[in-house]
Amino acid sequence: MDTINVALAGATGNLGPAILNALLADPRIKVTQLQRAGSKKGTDARAPTREVDFTSLDSLTSALQGEDVLVNTLGFGPAGLDVHLRLIDASLAAGVQRVIPSEFGVDTSHPRTGVLLIFKEKIDVQKHLRALCGAELYAFVQRAVPGLWTAGGVSA
Ligand SMILES: NC(=O)c1ccc[n+]([C@@H]2O[C@H](COP(=O)([O-])OP(=O)(O)OC[C@H]3O[C@@H](n4cnc5c(N)ncnc54)[C@H](OP(=O)(O)O)[C@@H]3O)[C@@H](O)[C@H]2O)c1
Repeated sequence: MDTINVALAGATGNLGPAILNALLADPRIKVTQLQRAGSKKGTDARAPTREVDFTSLDSLTSALQGEDVLVNTLGFGPAGLDVHLRLIDASLAAGVQRVIPSEFGVDTSHPRTGVLLIFKEKIDVQKHLRALCGAELYAFVQRAVPGLWTAGGVSA
């Protein structure tokens, strides 16, 4: 059984713990949490944590060495669009094979949602991925509940 190395950004957020639970439930997956250096939030002891500087391409590229997949569950509040784009650039530089952007929620490929201003950053991420990956881009919709998640997060 081949191991799939998955790096998870945003494990301490609302959605992140539910995604981490799902990843940990698969014995083929070895998950590593990427956490902002200096964060006061405790990470999940069941998976290793790598401290990173999300403002640094070098730091992210180094942290992603050896990973097969990046799953990004960062919100678009404190972590700005630049962080989301840098995670993609670092993944490419580190040879990560699959990137799951923080696209959780409604189907932004729908013409009536894609034009809404609140989804602009997600559309910008998609454009960045298309520019880098072209025909290699595999689009999919993560059908998470689109409602507001509380501080307690979501359950998987
Ligand atoms: N929340 C909702 O109600 C909701 C609803 C529908 C869809 N969604 C979607 O679900 C996805 C995740 O949303 P979420 O609410 O779970 O995200 P979130 O809780 O806002 O994400 C928080 C994460 O971001 C990290 N973080 C904070 N500031 C950062 C910075 N400057 N640089 C890097 N990391 C930083 C935090 O880690 P540390 O503080 O430990 O560093 C934490 O792990 C998004 O795509 C969002 O649109 C959310």
